[in-house]
Amino acid sequence: MYNKKTIEDIEVSGKRVLVRCDFNVPLKDGVITSDKRIVEALPTSKYLLDNGAKVILCSHMGKPHAIFTEGFGLDKKEKAKVEALPAEEQAAAKAELLEKAKKNDIKKFTLAPVAARLNEYLDGRVTFASDIVGDDAKAKIAALEAGHAVLIENVRFDARETKNDPTMAKELADFADIYVNDAFGSAHRAHASTAGAADYLPAVSGYLINKEITVMGGALEDPKRPFVAILGGAKVSDKIGVIQNLIEKVDTLVIGGGMAYTFFRALGYEVGTSICENDKVELARELMDKAKAKGVNFLLPVDNVIGREYDENTEFKTVSSDAIPDGWMGLDIGAETQKLFAGAIIGAGTVVWNGPMGVSEWANFAAGTTAVAQAVADSGAVSIIGGGDSAAAVEKLGYADKMTHISTGGGASLEFLEGKALPGIACLNNK
Ligand code: 3PG
Repeated sequence: MYNKKTIEDIEVSGKRVLVRCDFNVPLKDGVITSDKRIVEALPTSKYLLDNGAKVILCSHMGKPHAIFTEGFGLDKKEKAKVEALPAEEQAAAKAELLEKAKKNDIKKFTLAPVAARLNEYLDGRVTFASDIVGDDAKAKIAALEAGHAVLIENVRFDARETKNDPTMAKELADFADIYVNDAFGSAHRAHASTAGAADYLPAVSGYLINKEITVMGGALEDPKRPFVAILGGAKVSDKIGVIQNLIEKVDTLVIGGGMAYTFFRALGYEVGTSICENDKVELARELMDKAKAKGVNFLLPVDNVIGREYDENTEFKTVSSDAIPDGWMGLDIGAETQKLFAGAIIGAGTVVWNGPMGVSEWANFAAGTTAVAQAVADSGAVSIIGGGDSAAAVEKLGYADKMTHISTGGGASLEFLEGKALPGIACLNNK
């Protein structure tokens, strides 16, 4: 399916190489709380630096205002605040809010902490530029020596990034001789730095993108059987594409999490106040029919931990799936379901898991997700964990080392499992 050139297929020595990474890491008060994405990007940087390239690293962080763009605007809420004021006060209020947004965003979304962390791993070989395609970046890139890198500031501070504006793509490309995409987590975005820049340069994949597509692509194309997919999370609507694609490929499809209640409705069960997408009930029925017609073993929870309300400390109990009382909501899978799901997972050849089984961040409703993580870890199967909440759960529980692959992409891994072409990969040169 994918046959993309990698950094090993191109001469990099002495070349200026623009590398798009996904350094969109979680931060709390300016401190990185998980540097998994930075660590996963290191092999590419190390290879390029050790082979004498001049490396220009770039990434986005979060969803900031486009504060580097002339005339950047306020967001909807801020605009409404200004417009509610008397006309003569609006200009000053707007200027004040813009200044505040700028300061806040620099503090919250700067890549400076990432540069500092990179330097810990890369022996101080990284310089940070405080702009993207401005004077600081230009000067630092012009002064770059082979075996050294510059990390430019958050590309989303420029409004042109998310619009995939060719002028920005070209300005980025002008810094370099080669474009490398290693940002798997952003590969589902067609932005100036994730795809646009590839129009102007030889474009190849880094080690991380290559690893993600090789492992996940391999599982989808030629899985060791039985192939079991476990899908959780709140909404059927988020996973329709994945279910539809995987139903064609798997031997067993396990559905847990909030999604299960829409399927219960399709079976005619009452679901109390559980999350349920009534407009997707018919689709849920069709998906179950399709699984049956294809001979796919389709597993839904048989019991559920239900709570009085959506609250961490709410009263809770376990009931079977066809006995959820009025006024109660499902918040996790029950103990019988844990056994049922574990039974399917233990005999698997390949497991793909995306989405928690319940509200896993709350102790009383985390047991289902923990049990699935444990079963996957013990299964001996080729195990692939989609990014986001299931990846976080696996890491928190200390099972990360037991998994074959934990994707660095949330949305990207979902779209990959849906079988969609990701723009950040499609733009790369074929072998
Ligand atoms: C992610 O965290 O999923 C990626 O970095 C993409 O971020 P985005 O959803 O803001 O594009």
